[in-house]
Amino acid sequence: MDLHLQDKVVIITGGAKGIGEAITRCFASEGCRVVVANRSTEAGIALVAELKAAGAAAHFVQAELREEAACRRVIDETIEQFGGIDVLVHNAGGNDAVGLDRSPDDFMRSIENNLLHVYTLTHMAQESLKARKGCIVNVGSKVVDTGQGHTSGYAAAKGGMNALTREWAVDLAPHGIRVNTVVPAEVWTPMYERWLNSLERSAEVRKGIEQLIPLERRFTTSEEIADTVTFLASDRSSHTTGQIIYVDGGYTHLDRAFTST
Ligand SMILES: NC(=O)c1ccc[n+]([C@@H]2O[C@H](COP(=O)([O-])OP(=O)(O)OC[C@H]3O[C@@H](n4cnc5c(N)ncnc54)[C@H](O)[C@@H]3O)[C@@H](O)[C@H]2O)c1
Repeated sequence: MDLHLQDKVVIITGGAKGIGEAITRCFASEGCRVVVANRSTEAGIALVAELKAAGAAAHFVQAELREEAACRRVIDETIEQFGGIDVLVHNAGGNDAVGLDRSPDDFMRSIENNLLHVYTLTHMAQESLKARKGCIVNVGSKVVDTGQGHTSGYAAAKGGMNALTREWAVDLAPHGIRVNTVVPAEVWTPMYERWLNSLERSAEVRKGIEQLIPLERRFTTSEEIADTVTFLASDRSSHTTGQIIYVDGGYTHLDRAFTST
């Protein structure tokens, strides 16, 4: 299937590592011009250099997205380099375990890390997105549906992201801009692997998690998330907007009876 994404300009927040890296690689493989916005300088520079060496158009913006000025740089540099924005992928974030025991300041910091930049970048990109009939794809979390415990900030931020998916789908529909969210549950990334390996009896813990995933009793791959994000950004999903789509092997919704044995 030709996704008709050739030369589209795509910003991927957190695009240097994990799921974001897979998203960046997927868009680049479709001939898109990719902008990786990430706080991790080394990984971002290395990824963009690799993509450029392979003939892709790519740009790295070192950005701590909690800061408004960094968001501004991401938008300005993208327009300067590539002339506009077609796709905005809000992927940056992470479960920072800010639970009920933590201070309101810590809670706000978690919101800043996981949600505030989603608003700020969308606010700043909207003019260009409207001019090019662009689209927005978010990367959410199943924590919104299931809860997890000890992670109030992250849960609130990702819940906000789901709400904004509907809100912005309405706001931006008159401009032909679609807004959707892809929801992962358990995705195998280098960071996840490092965390698991730091635990005692990590093999056992891994097996326990895999048992909870109905389809094939395995983790979702980053590439499986990236494929859905890329499809949703393409005009092959031209009448899909305001949707929250689970790429999770059935983890979030399927009958627990199936995974309890
Ligand atoms: N891995 C999973 O199982 C899983 C499950 C549910 C949801 N998610 C979501 O998927 C997205 C990607 O997660 P991942 O597992 O690939 O994480 P990751 O930590 O491997 O990669 C995320 C990247 O984003 C960057 N980043 C995070 N916050 C940033 C900020 N404020 N400014 C700049 N850069 C920032 C990090 O430095 C990192 O390079 C996140 O939004 C996460 O909440 C992941």
